[in-house]
Amino acid sequence: MHTDGTFVSEATDWLLMMKFAEHCATGGESRLLHLDDWEEIEPFINHKLATRPFLYRAPGSKNVAEKVERPLFFQGEFGLSISFIDQFVQPANREEAAFLRALSESMEASSGTREVILPVGDLVVLNNYFYLHGRAPFQKDESLLRELMRQRGTFA
Ligand SMILES: [Fe+2]
Repeated sequence: MHTDGTFVSEATDWLLMMKFAEHCATGGESRLLHLDDWEEIEPFINHKLATRPFLYRAPGSKNVAEKVERPLFFQGEFGLSISFIDQFVQPANREEAAFLRALSESMEASSGTREVILPVGDLVVLNNYFYLHGRAPFQKDESLLRELMRQRGTFA
């Protein structure tokens, strides 16, 4: 589970996910977790690493050379917020790595994580500070085809 825009410096308040086409897809549901529905959040927000900056670096394929430091949890305009992506965080030591792994596992296993089917033509709009998102695995199928649009940013 992750939030978007973690490894770039511009703000990502909102995330829009739209599906244009899908064929032969079994699985692949969107997985969403709101911070209020994460029953094990307390030990993580009270941990000494909760508000310390973590380093994020995108892979070459993202064409983003920036290195960005962000705390996991912070107080935003509307309350407790999170910024995190397990794929691109660079833990500095074993303690940080263990903390981030436990955080990820807790979010994945949370009963608050809901799987949502997105029909072709439909759009999901998520607040990127309160919602984490991910995707369930697909069943292997050589004919699997999906066309999606993802947009992230702020409303002027
Ligand atoms: Fe994402």
